Amino acid sequence: MLTPGDLILLVSPKGKQYLRKYDPQAKLHTQDGVIDLAQVAQAGYGGVIASHMGSLYRVLRPSTYQLIKGVKRSTQIMYPKEIGYVILKLGIGPGTRVVEAGSGSGGLTTALAYHVGDTGRVYTFERRQEFYELSGKNLEAAGLVHRVARYHHDILQGFAPQGMVLGDPASDPSGADALFLDVRTPWDHLEQAAAVVCPGAPVGFLLPTTNQISDLLRGLETAPFEDVEVLEILVRRYKPVADRLRPEDRMVAHTGFLVFARHAGTPFTGSIPVLERVRPAPEHADDAAAVPEAVEASPVPDTVPAADASEPVGSGPLVSDNKDVS
Ligand SMILES: C[S@@+](CC[C@H](N)C(=O)[O-])C[C@H]1O[C@@H](n2cnc3c(N)ncnc32)[C@H](O)[C@@H]1O
Repeated sequence: MLTPGDLILLVSPKGKQYLRKYDPQAKLHTQDGVIDLAQVAQAGYGGVIASHMGSLYRVLRPSTYQLIKGVKRSTQIMYPKEIGYVILKLGIGPGTRVVEAGSGSGGLTTALAYHVGDTGRVYTFERRQEFYELSGKNLEAAGLVHRVARYHHDILQGFAPQGMVLGDPASDPSGADALFLDVRTPWDHLEQAAAVVCPGAPVGFLLPTTNQISDLLRGLETAPFEDVEVLEILVRRYKPVADRLRPEDRMVAHTGFLVFARHAGTPFTGSIPVLERVRPAPEHADDAAAVPEAVEASPVPDTVPAADASEPVGSGPLVSDNKDVS
């Protein structure tokens, strides 16, 4: 049952789309005529309504993908293909507190706000007034602005803007679970980024050129981050014709590169326990599936002998032989 304020996506057979909040009093003026939105409640999601000229529109519940595509933009927005991976890599889910800059048109902010739910929080920073306002309007239109602390603020000054109430998680991003930067020179903000997230937090960056990645990698080398990963995501669409199935003639060849890392937290120094390699007992030596009964931790000396240092700690097969499937 649709109630006023619910988001609706009206789609014509030709693919024309209108994203709106359902208001039974409203009239939508389209090239196909005027649509009286009072019809929406009876049609429901999946149903069909008509303009005064008889043009038909299907009523759909917009997905996050469609919310992002519906963002009015004055800046380049992030593409859903990158956003999807970012959501997974940063572990964004209900209750997550995530810091983001710059807000731009609010494309990524929309997706983050959707996924953190009502128990999470997005803290987004934008230094230009016009984009600060635009991203606010887009979040309002998507019905997600209440999950976002929005700051008109240059992150060169750090992540403690004017108006923030220290210690109040509704406005203070300190100890955030994750961070993402889509700004031109992220290497200028690494110290501040490390200071605002909790130890071990995942962080990510979007950059359009490879020389920017090199600058960021140099910055990450001297900042408290580890587990650095660089990647790009390509999507190749196919013409959905069963008898002549083949790729589209054109594709978007480049949008941006993604860089991920993790806040280093406690440094790897001193004595740490490691898991010993476990070999099958002699009577099971030929049984590849043999599972060790116990895996014991043993202390390692502060100084690891040079010969061992090149080998990753615990690199032997411990329990299973799973391949990296990332
Ligand atoms: C490419 S846009 C971000 C687009 C956004 N991710 C989206 O999906 O809509 C980059 C934004 O970062 C903002 N920006 C750049 N440097 C900044 C800084 N130091 N502090 C805050 N915002 C900054 C720019 O004004 C611009 O709006």
